Amino acid sequence: MTDPANLEFTPDQMQAMGEAVVRRAVAHLAGLADAPSCGDYADIEALCRALREPEPAEGGELGPLLDALFDDWIPRSFGTPGPGYLAYIPGGGVYPAALADFIADTANRYTGIWLGAPALVQLEANALDWMREWMQFPATARGVFTTGGSMAMFNAIACAREIKLGTDIRRGTLYVSSQSHHSITKAAKLAGIAHDRVRTIAVDAQYRMRVDALQAAIAADRAAGLAPFMVFSTAGTTNTGAVDPIDAVADLCAREGLWHHVDGAYGAFFHMVPALRPLLAGLPRADSLTLDPHKGMFLPYGTGALLVRDGEALRALHSSEAGYLPDNQNEFYDPAQYGPDLSRGFPGLRVWLALKLLGANRYRAALAEKRALALWAADAVAGIPGIVIDAPPQLSLFGFHLAHPSLPTLADENAATRALMQRVTARGRVMLTGAQVGERFLGRVCVLSFRTRRAQMEACVEDIAQVAAEILAEAGG
Ligand SMILES: Cc1ncc(COP(=O)(O)O)c(C=O)c1O
Repeated sequence: MTDPANLEFTPDQMQAMGEAVVRRAVAHLAGLADAPSCGDYADIEALCRALREPEPAEGGELGPLLDALFDDWIPRSFGTPGPGYLAYIPGGGVYPAALADFIADTANRYTGIWLGAPALVQLEANALDWMREWMQFPATARGVFTTGGSMAMFNAIACAREIKLGTDIRRGTLYVSSQSHHSITKAAKLAGIAHDRVRTIAVDAQYRMRVDALQAAIAADRAAGLAPFMVFSTAGTTNTGAVDPIDAVADLCAREGLWHHVDGAYGAFFHMVPALRPLLAGLPRADSLTLDPHKGMFLPYGTGALLVRDGEALRALHSSEAGYLPDNQNEFYDPAQYGPDLSRGFPGLRVWLALKLLGANRYRAALAEKRALALWAADAVAGIPGIVIDAPPQLSLFGFHLAHPSLPTLADENAATRALMQRVTARGRVMLTGAQVGERFLGRVCVLSFRTRRAQMEACVEDIAQVAAEILAEAGG
């Protein structure tokens, strides 16, 4: 008779289950190149309704669940790990990270405090330190892995608020551009900076924050008795890939005594490549920096990171003590002293293992290749009749729209550009999404999956050319 309170599996069972999962996962990865770039969404609402169910009171077999996951549920989604994924901001998801997650979850050691798993925490500290070096931050900088860029932003705002405003937070004002990521305003609200204290600065013709407008907004707030404390510039915006004039913003922040945060969620990892550093000039001067390893380090979703130039400022925000815990120590990195989590998974292992297995140089080569592919594709797309390039690639993302005498109004151009994105995606070779930028809907291509190679970019250009011709023909052009 089975013991209902025993939740353990036998070693043989665990081995068999693990092998079954790896078999399915590896087959899934091997099939990505031939899978449609976006899954089938027909009847998706009906599927989701049908999936609602009461608790499974009794356990069952793994096999049928894997069948449903891999044959039905996983494919009916955006093709985020696939080589044709050029939508939003890709990443791909390198295999070593999945292995690391499996090790972290089966070993299940406590990495909230150094003493719980000293050697493991040191691996996480190493991974953060490698990032610090790539970003050319000083040795006194410290950081923390987060679940993504949004939480890095939240942590950064809390840190800047504490240092610059103390308890007088209501007067504090914070500055973003009209192209900044919406997670910043959300993070500001979470960190106690209400929406009426967030200023949106205009951008120039290349979608970069206008430093003169920033200066004017700061002056106006000071004149109104408010306390400007923090500016966000972006190293690669989500909509068009624009890199703000980081150096000039850093100068202004230094003059005004403001905290300068750089949102490098999309673009910061290009700083790993020495030849590309001039594209991000000024990034190492930031007071704090958002990184998203689940984008530019090609990790699976779930890993962001924050670096803070003055590591002690981050520690002052998070350091705390409890009678039931060991005393804080100073020599070694202690995750709970630099972030809001106490009990946590082991996010550093996926970064560490991916780097140890692939090596930083292959990362550099891959990042440089993604940029070169974007430059090549932007050039080719620019030659397609009817296409106007609005945002040439600054890093690896470019934006464009369809224009033609047969599309007489802005609304017509927007509808045609939207149709272009949808119909290219429906062909199944690449997935594209656009973005509403002011009055205009822009098509966009973002190359940042490690799986995207020249073949997918050729398919992308070919499909954009054919679909654009179809759309213009239908419009009577
Ligand atoms: C520029 C930029 N900043 C911030 C974020 C938010 O990051 P996350 O989705 O990891 O929370 C994104 C996400 O796409 C982004 O592109």
